[in-house]
Amino acid sequence: MIVILGAMDSEIAEFLSVMEQRETSVWQGIEEHRGLIDGHRVLVSKTGVGKAMAAMRTQHFIDKAAPRALLFTGLAGSLKTDIRIGDTVLGRDLVQHDLESVVLGLPRGQIPFTEIRFLTPDPALLARATQYQPPEGKVHLGRICTGDQFITHREMSSHAYLHQELAGDAVEMEGAAVALVCSLNAIPYLVARTISDMADEDAVSNFEEILPRASQNSLALVRHLLAGM
Ligand code: ADE
Repeated sequence: MIVILGAMDSEIAEFLSVMEQRETSVWQGIEEHRGLIDGHRVLVSKTGVGKAMAAMRTQHFIDKAAPRALLFTGLAGSLKTDIRIGDTVLGRDLVQHDLESVVLGLPRGQIPFTEIRFLTPDPALLARATQYQPPEGKVHLGRICTGDQFITHREMSSHAYLHQELAGDAVEMEGAAVALVCSLNAIPYLVARTISDMADEDAVSNFEEILPRASQNSLALVRHLLAGM
């Protein structure tokens, strides 16, 4: 079984449109769909937005489905001028950007009383994903920064640490939470994001505009990964 997640309905709609033999159940008010994509047994669901929802539902799917891999796709804001709207960012590593215990002498993103800061995905999934040729845009390997905050131009203090302390490439709201739960459970995972905005003053309108195209990109990438599994 392979678990395929996104944060919102619109981020998983394309997966559902190609799923065969679909069976749907509901847990805590959110639908989860089991079936086949290109002959592979998959479970597709949204997590809901933000780190807490993402972590809770990732653990639920691991407990319930014991997946051999977990793939998380969706949208992200870019933190680099050469990573443009429509491009794909594969999480080379992921960090919780809003986890901050500087007073304890820890660098931003480090979980206190652990060595955990940057989380790295399954090397084989990442290697296969780098061979993905998208219909448009480029594929980047990058650092995905996750926090419970939609970043626009107004979040200047966040921009400062996202760039300076973390050297981030993309920003979103679930990836590092999913990565943390998967790595603690030793489940191979990959987080891949399509860039919807430049985390600036146009972020909200760009985000809404690109949703359908981004979801098609996510499906194409996941199909590429499934073909190698
Ligand atoms: N997801 C897509 N764009 C984002 C942004 N600018 N901030 C946080 N999450 C996002």
